[in-house]
Amino acid sequence: MAIRNVVQVGDDVLRKKCFPVEEFDENLCKLLDDMKDTVKKEEGAGLAAPQVGVLRRVVVVDVEDGYFEFINPVIVAQKGEQTGWEGCLSVRGKSGIVSRPMKVKLSYQDRTGEKHLLQAKGFFARAICHELDHLDGVLYIDKATHIEQN
Ligand code: CO
Repeated sequence: MAIRNVVQVGDDVLRKKCFPVEEFDENLCKLLDDMKDTVKKEEGAGLAAPQVGVLRRVVVVDVEDGYFEFINPVIVAQKGEQTGWEGCLSVRGKSGIVSRPMKVKLSYQDRTGEKHLLQAKGFFARAICHELDHLDGVLYIDKATHIEQN
């Protein structure tokens, strides 16, 4: 387990589309363990693999509902809307107002490759949407209607 460096906005790696995970192997476990250490240390609500320089469809989310690892995640349904503040470990010192779905249904795989479906609402849904955007090179600052320096 190790803390990895979090890439900052301006780095091309944050703007690329990530590839699906095909091998559920030791490298994936190491990446996930390091992402957990990193998001806990940085006190983030989530972290996506490109933020540690890895172009794979892997995110972790750490919210009141719990700590989650999502591999090859896809939002299969969404409902409602919420508008609120968001920040990002790759955009230090800022936060912005972003509209997101109020509820999402997520299909994903765990670290063993097993498939799951999960429903999330409120801030949990927001965190999922934010992290999944990272997998397609999208940052919240692209969607924010208002951005402030912290
Ligand atoms: Co982010």
